[in-house]
Amino acid sequence: MTRDSATAPLRVSILFSGRGSNMLALLDHMMPRNEDYAIASLICNRPNAGGIAAAHERGLTVSLIDHTHYDTKATFEAAMHAQLLRDGTELICLAGFMRILSADFVGQWDQRIINIHPSLLPLYKGLDTHRRALEDGASKHGCSVHYVVPEMDAGPVILQSEVPVSTDDTEDSLAARVLAVEHPTYCAALDRVAADIRSNRSAKNKAGQSRP
Ligand code: GRF
Repeated sequence: MTRDSATAPLRVSILFSGRGSNMLALLDHMMPRNEDYAIASLICNRPNAGGIAAAHERGLTVSLIDHTHYDTKATFEAAMHAQLLRDGTELICLAGFMRILSADFVGQWDQRIINIHPSLLPLYKGLDTHRRALEDGASKHGCSVHYVVPEMDAGPVILQSEVPVSTDDTEDSLAARVLAVEHPTYCAALDRVAADIRSNRSAKNKAGQSRP
């Protein structure tokens, strides 16, 4: 029996650049829930990213779209956009994807790109969030999952998790404590976004049915 479009699995693509621990957490969340989710694609922009081998170990292929092979950001993004469309992507999860996306690209996927950032946004946008939290003597730190908008790390927050900062923390110890909450936070945020997309699909279906 086929499922109607309102309840069909949500097709998710994950973009990553590095070790890919958030990508793996999302895969481990989605793969057993194949009534709810389908992995549309995994896309990586760096040929030596550790996450590529980890994805292969799970029997998944990774599309390598190396930004250094493109003359401009626009042509790199056009290649990603075409791949995402070919893969039937409905939602993009950025998981340590280290390229800033242009307003044009973000506009093509409006409300359909989410990202995880290692700070309690709006605090510490950008890089080196753990070092900056320690330098400020912050007593708490954490992570945020947010919608992606053209301005970096500025989109609406979907979910945050806090961790305490100890006086003897190093950048590494704090990063490890934050990473441990990133994985469940990203999965829970994905479930929220997926529920919203599904309820929009049902609303559209109902509107379609009531048309003469
Ligand atoms: C994570 O800390 C994430 O919050 C940030 O980049 C890092 C990626 O780590 N955006 P990983 O590749 O998912 O392990």
